[in-house]
Amino acid sequence: MKPKKLAILISGRGSNMKALVDACTKGSLKGVAKVAIVLSNNPDAEGLEVAKRMGVPTTAISSKDKTRLAFDRVVLKFLKEIGVDYVILAGFMRKLTKEFTVAYPKRIINIHPADTRSHRGLGAYEWAWENKLEKTKITVHYVNAQIDDGEIIAQADVDLKGVKNLHEVEARGLAIEHSFFAQAIKKILTDTQTKKI
Ligand code: GRF
Repeated sequence: MKPKKLAILISGRGSNMKALVDACTKGSLKGVAKVAIVLSNNPDAEGLEVAKRMGVPTTAISSKDKTRLAFDRVVLKFLKEIGVDYVILAGFMRKLTKEFTVAYPKRIINIHPADTRSHRGLGAYEWAWENKLEKTKITVHYVNAQIDDGEIIAQADVDLKGVKNLHEVEARGLAIEHSFFAQAIKKILTDTQTKKI
């Protein structure tokens, strides 16, 4: 079976993108998925340089000065042209339009660093820290046109007992994100494959 083609969309640092590229080249997604493109709406995203250094094709389509729909249409056209199977949002800080989300039904996947039933949007680790949570969750979910609202695919616990500051909260969370995202994507791709047989 041919590896599925992923487009990874980012806006900034790209640590989850990096973990996914590693998983596709030498980890749990090897042979299952391939990163066809790393795309950013922010031409200055640090993650674009990281991806280039890893030898992954990249592109920047600036969202500045474009309406939400105009931006989504350019991205959609580009992704359709290169024949992407799945769109992975890894720190992509934009809401997508319905026109975009319906173009890839159950094919757009996001990672959110909280239980999306308890916290959506920015600042999820700050929220966990400020509320002194002893445990938070990482959520991998399908994407619809609302922020962090789509059907939950999988969740992982993050133990926050004894954390001393926000930095530690983030460090514990990201350590889980980096392995869990690849695991969840693998499950989706292999389950989908099995259903087709
Ligand atoms: C991660 O915490 C991810 O869960 C959230 O945004 C952050 C992106 O970090 N959606 P990075 O760009 O992957 O390092």
